[in-house]
Order: sequence, then structure tokens, then C-alpha cells
Amino acid sequence: MRLVLLGAPGTGKGTQAARLKEYLRVPHISTGDLLRAEVAAGSPLGLQAKEVMERGELVSDDILLGMLRERFSREDTKAGFILDGYPRNLAQAAALDELLGNLGQKFDAAVQLAVDNEQIIERLAGRAKAEGRADDNPESVRKRLEVYDAQTAPVIEFYRQQGQLTVVDGVGTLDEVFGRIIEAISPGKAVG
Ligand code: AP5
Repeated sequence: MRLVLLGAPGTGKGTQAARLKEYLRVPHISTGDLLRAEVAAGSPLGLQAKEVMERGELVSDDILLGMLRERFSREDTKAGFILDGYPRNLAQAAALDELLGNLGQKFDAAVQLAVDNEQIIERLAGRAKAEGRADDNPESVRKRLEVYDAQTAPVIEFYRQQGQLTVVDGVGTLDEVFGRIIEAISPGKAVG
């Protein structure tokens, strides 16, 4: 299964991807996690990305594509993947198509987790208290939601128009949301 997991910040992509990874036995590729690892390591790329991420803006397409190319060159992605956090704009959607095309692949399903902004803000405020993620402060969350509406929503619309999108209600218990995703990607349901 080659799954692209979409949705605004805080809709549960990372939480559900961790479960899906066990269920589908394919790697979870989170561009946010890859970037945070670079920041934690203090690499030149991490130093470049850190402030952009803290402001809630998008890191440059070139950096992201370089990271993804490296990740997709590894053997474990051959059997499938769960891609979380990419693509985030139309240029990235085109780059993903090309990257997968060069590998002789295409994704099986694009699933969008849908949660209203009020609940997103509540969830991320909770995580800011519990984990202290640098971009979970109210100002950065507002910016991340703005960036999502301006740049990522067109990707969702594009996949919808292509008949590649499945929208899943992301509100409910973790088991409920997981069950809905499994249902959405089960044979005969997945599009793309
Ligand atoms: P990224 O790490 O991708 O962050 P995000 O999209 O903002 O997503 P989050 O991790 O906040 O949310 P999530 O949907 O994964 O939800 P989660 O499961 O964590 O990106 C961070 C930054 O990196 C970006 O802003 C950008 O700067 C940069 N970046 C990354 N990719 C990029 C790209 N492609 N191009 C350019 N820049 C890029 O859950 C959130 C909270 O809700 C948790 O506390 C969780 O416990 C809780 N929760 C989850 N599910 C439920 C539920 N069902 N009910 C109640 N609470 C729940």
C-alpha cells in the first residue's frame, strides 16, 4: 500500500500513521519528523529549517524534495509507504508524481483527515502543554492553518478533481478514526 495522508495540522496524521505502519507493515515517512531530526542534529539543513518551522511556514520545496529523494532511495519503501506531511503545495504534488514515476510507482490512495479548526486549536494547545513542540504556540498554529488554507488546500482540491481523494472524518476516538481509514483504503474503496 502506497498511502498519502493529508490534512491540516493537528488532524491526527502522525498519530494514525504510527498505527497504520504496524497494520500495513510499511514505513511511515513524515516530512515533519525528518525535518525535526535535522533540527535536533543541528545539521546545516536543520539550522536552515528551524526558524521557518517555528514560524509555521513551509520549508523550501528544494530541501523537501532532496530529503524525500534520499528517503525513497532506500529499500524499505519498495513495498509501500505512508507519506505524512507531503505534498503541501501544488509544486510538491507535481514533484511527488515525478519522483514516484521515476521509481515506476504511483500512490494507491490519498486520504484526507478532516477536523474543524476549533478542535485542531484545542488539540495543539494540549500538545503544546504536554510536549512543548516549538510550533504549537498560538501564533504559529494560526500561521500553520493559514498556510494550509492558502497552499495545501489546492492540493486537496487537485486530488479531488483527479478522483484520487478520500475524505475521512478525523473526529472521534483513535480506534474510530483508524477504523474509518482502514475502511477507506480497503480493496475496492481506495482510489488513485
Ligand atoms: P508536520 O510535522 O507535518 O506538522 P503538521 O502538519 O502541522 O502536523 P502535526 O504534526 O501538528 O499534526 P498531525 O496531523 O500529525 O496530528 P498529530 O497526530 O500529531 O510539519 C511541521 C513543520 O515542518 C511545518 O509547519 C513546516 O514548517 C515543515 N514541513 C513539514 N513538511 C513540509 C513540507 N512538505 N513542505 C514544507 N515544509 C514542511 O495529532 C495532533 C494532536 O492531536 C496530538 O496531541 C494527538 O495526540 C492529538 N490527537 C490525534 N488524534 C486525535 C483524536 N482523534 N482525538 C483527539 N486528539 C487527537
